[in-house]
Amino acid sequence: MKEQVENLDWNNLGFAYHDLPYSFEAKFKDGQWQPGKLTTKSTLEFSEAAEVLHYGQEVFEGLKAYRRKDGQLNLFRPELNGERMVNSAKRLAMEPYPVDAFVDSVKQVVKANEDFVPPYESGGSLYVRPFMVGTSSVVGVQPAVEYTYHVYATPVGAYVNGLSPAAYTVSQYDRASYAGTGQAKTSGNYASSLIASMQAHQDGFADCLFLDPREHKYVDEFGGANFFGITRKGQFVTPKSNSILPSITKRSLLTLAKKQGLNPVETKIPFADLDQFVEAGAIGTAAVISPVGSLTYQGKKQIFYSETEAGPVTTKLYNELLGIQYGDRPDPEHWTQTV
Ligand code: PLP
Ligand code: COI
Repeated sequence: MKEQVENLDWNNLGFAYHDLPYSFEAKFKDGQWQPGKLTTKSTLEFSEAAEVLHYGQEVFEGLKAYRRKDGQLNLFRPELNGERMVNSAKRLAMEPYPVDAFVDSVKQVVKANEDFVPPYESGGSLYVRPFMVGTSSVVGVQPAVEYTYHVYATPVGAYVNGLSPAAYTVSQYDRASYAGTGQAKTSGNYASSLIASMQAHQDGFADCLFLDPREHKYVDEFGGANFFGITRKGQFVTPKSNSILPSITKRSLLTLAKKQGLNPVETKIPFADLDQFVEAGAIGTAAVISPVGSLTYQGKKQIFYSETEAGPVTTKLYNELLGIQYGDRPDPEHWTQTV
């Protein structure tokens, strides 16, 4: 059933699916991408032998449209999502969808569903989910020759707790392997993280942190967000690892941190050295900047700034990033585009 705008409670959206009027679809067949278009269909149909169902050829993206105070709609660095999807597709031996066509399709979906972009005052946004699946019928393990690219959108509120700190634990499982698909945004990484998140929830935590899959000695990332920590000396530190997703939020915060007088550092972070951080957080499109209040592992609990309050550096970065995304603060790097 299609969602009606009047049924939405903008201030209590959570992070859930609403079936909006318009999606976008394009198909790759006969060796090329066919022109895509908006569609009112929110289902996909393919063979029981489709590649994606058995051998997992799927890649996706996640980005948001923000309603500004003046009512206009902003996208934040959508070309970087398009570029990342090209890289993810290449890793999965799929036919990349061109970046320009990606950005155009996102704009079309946002525009067509503009009544569903939450009002500025609600603090919500329209989450846009472009994805691509291998659809040709295969039995032997080989790449598909036909693909469907599809984009849907759904209005969302906070994914975690907003700026309220949450309690995390550390996973016993790996989500990606050392030379595996961690840098690609592909469904298999998320499927392999589910059991770890479920366990964390059962144990009373918001989610879990994954360690590097080779040595289990270094911090990798969360199931749906990168990690950062702030040192006493004013460093903004985030993991360097080839098994994590190259986060666009992380990349942007490395720039903003520098402008705020912090020293941005991408490096391996030994798990044993987490006590160097006076603030820590999870960062990503859905997570935005979610403070890590505490991290509990093998019976030991480390509290970062506070279990109830976001730290001052985290808060300042949060306000700057959201200020740019919602069009309230100057955007000297031209990161935003209006739709
Ligand atoms: N890491 C993982 C595993 C994610 O799913 C996401 C979300 O996209 C991120 C990090 C953050 O990436 P971005 O800031 O580009 O949303
Ligand atoms: C995103 O932040 O866009 C993601 O894909 C994370 C996902 C866990 C919701």
